[in-house]
Formats: sequence, structure tokens, C-alpha cells
Amino acid sequence: MLTPEIESLIARLPKAELHLHIEGSLEPEMLFALAERNAVTIPFDTVEAVRAAYSFSNLQDFLDIYYQGMSVLQTERDFYDLTWAYLERAKADAVRHVEIFFDPQGHTERGIALETVLNGIDSALKAAETRLGITSRLIMCFLRHLSEEEAEATLDQALPHLDRIHGVGLDSSELGHPPAKFERVFARARALGLHVTAHAGEEGPPAYVREALDLLKVERIDHGNRALEDPALVHRLARDGMTLTVCPLSNLRLCVIDRIEDSPVRRMLDLGLKVTVNADDPAYFGGYINDNFRAVAAALDLTADQLVALAKNSFAGSFLPEAEIARHLSAIDEAARG
Ligand code: HPA
Ligand code: ZN
Repeated sequence: MLTPEIESLIARLPKAELHLHIEGSLEPEMLFALAERNAVTIPFDTVEAVRAAYSFSNLQDFLDIYYQGMSVLQTERDFYDLTWAYLERAKADAVRHVEIFFDPQGHTERGIALETVLNGIDSALKAAETRLGITSRLIMCFLRHLSEEEAEATLDQALPHLDRIHGVGLDSSELGHPPAKFERVFARARALGLHVTAHAGEEGPPAYVREALDLLKVERIDHGNRALEDPALVHRLARDGMTLTVCPLSNLRLCVIDRIEDSPVRRMLDLGLKVTVNADDPAYFGGYINDNFRAVAAALDLTADQLVALAKNSFAGSFLPEAEIARHLSAIDEAARG
């Protein structure tokens, strides 16, 4: 149960969202609208039928539907509309800064040019800065079920656009695709001055989190749940102040946890880890960032101080310059005072 005070605090706390796949914000209503606009056939008749299909037993179950959903995204305007809809929704949740992922290979392998994708997403991000007061960074993810050579080719294609791409990430099917597979392409990305992050420890073992740190030299761990199985790794993550971008409703819907009460958010806070709360793929997992905050606040009985710590971690773990981080942290203190 949430008290009205905690509800109101969650609603007004300024936040940064650090783990959001823009393609995962494609709501069923927009899926239908874009299917019609682009004359793409989708295997559903109604929005209800789409939502009913969003029942997953694991990450792969979800990914199969997620990649299928992308087929309706074809033009620059589609990517703009998708991104703008997310940003307006984020604004309603007091999100002030976003660092969003996109999956270029999910589009280029369908014959959509990287430039089309990038132009659409980037123009919505730029519009959000002036019209919504939301700043942003864009992170290009490599699909880990594909080869490192394909990731290298994607990085090559991105070279003319690095003024609009700030970092690289690693997502898709984790088991059997350890971070080590991408050591060289991540080294090249770092040498280009890009920020680096990777999904690790969502379904994969603690060893994958270690590899992400040691071999990819990531600045954040996306998810990181299974790091908790390894006390020495927890110690290291806490000592180094490594940010973990946890996604509670995603974890529940992908059966990473059985019950929302099993979310690691509070344990991570208690262990001194820099945990953040994020939506991952909100259209598929039943909630945006504040839905995730409310779910864990209620299930884990989080205090106002713990919620403030989560919001602060989100800015502290962002790729913003220190002065901007400091400004956001002051705004959080002000919001917390009511
Ligand atoms: N995990 C891995 N790959 C993904 C996810 C996720 O949660 N969302 C979109 N691609
Ligand atoms: Zn993710």
C-alpha cells in the first residue's frame, strides 16, 4: 500500500531514465496506426489481442514479439512519432533527462537506413529539449545474438553520425552471448570517445557482469540482478560506485523474479549499490517509470529517503556533466521538501 505522501513524492521527484529501449515504447495503439499508415500486415486484429499476446516466460519470448513489432517502423516520421510519444509520457512522470537505447540492427536488417532511424529519433529528442525541457543522450545497442563482425559493421555505419550518438550498449538474448564476444568492438567504441554500457546479469550469471566490467570496461551495468549471487562482485560494484539500471516490472514480466516483492531494488540500496529504477520496454511490461517506482515502493515498503536516493542515483549515474548533475540533485532536494 502506498500512502498519499509517498504517491505524491514519486509523482514530483525529478528523475533521469537510463534504461529505456525506444522500440519498447511502441504501444499497441501506435502499432496499429503505423501498420495501417505503412500498409504492413500484423498478426493481430485488436489492441486487446496484442496486449493478450504480451505474456512471456523469459527474455527470448519477449524478444520474438519485440522484433516483430518493429516491422511497422519504416519512415523517419514513424521514429519521430514513437520517440515523441515516449517523451511526452516521460514528462508526465517528472523525467528531466533520458538516455535512451535504440537497436539499429533491428532496422537495418529490414532494409531501413540507419539515417532514417537516427533522423527521426534525434529530431524528437531535440524538440523535447526546447518544448518539454527534457535533455537526452542516445545509446546505440549491438544485438548480442548477432556476430561481433556485424556489430563492427554497425559501428562503421554510425561513424558519420557520432555527433548524435553518445554511447554504445549491448542487448538482446543474453544467455550464450557473453560480453567477451564483443570485447574488440567495445574497445573501438571507447577509443572513439563513446560511452559504454551493457545488459548483464538479467538472465546471465555473475560472470557476465564481471566480463562487462573487465573486458568491455562499462560505465554502467544494465539490470545486474544476478550480481547479487556473488558477494565479492557486490563488494566491487559498491566500492566502485557502479550504477545498476534495474527494471522492476520488466523483471516481473520476463520471469527474472517471481513476485514484485522479490525485486532487488531495496537489497541493492541496503548493500550500498547505486541502483536506479527504469521502465525498459514500457509498452510491453505494463508501466512507465513512475509505475515502476510505485510498484517497488509499495512491495518493498520503501521510505521517502530511499526514493530520493533512487532519483539521485539516476542523475549521478547519467552521462551528464557534473554541473548539470549537481543542478538536478538540488532540484530533487527541493522536490523532496515538498
Ligand atoms: N534485455 C535484453 N534485450 C532487450 C531488452 C532487455 O530487457 N529490451 C529490449 N531488448
Ligand atoms: Zn533493457
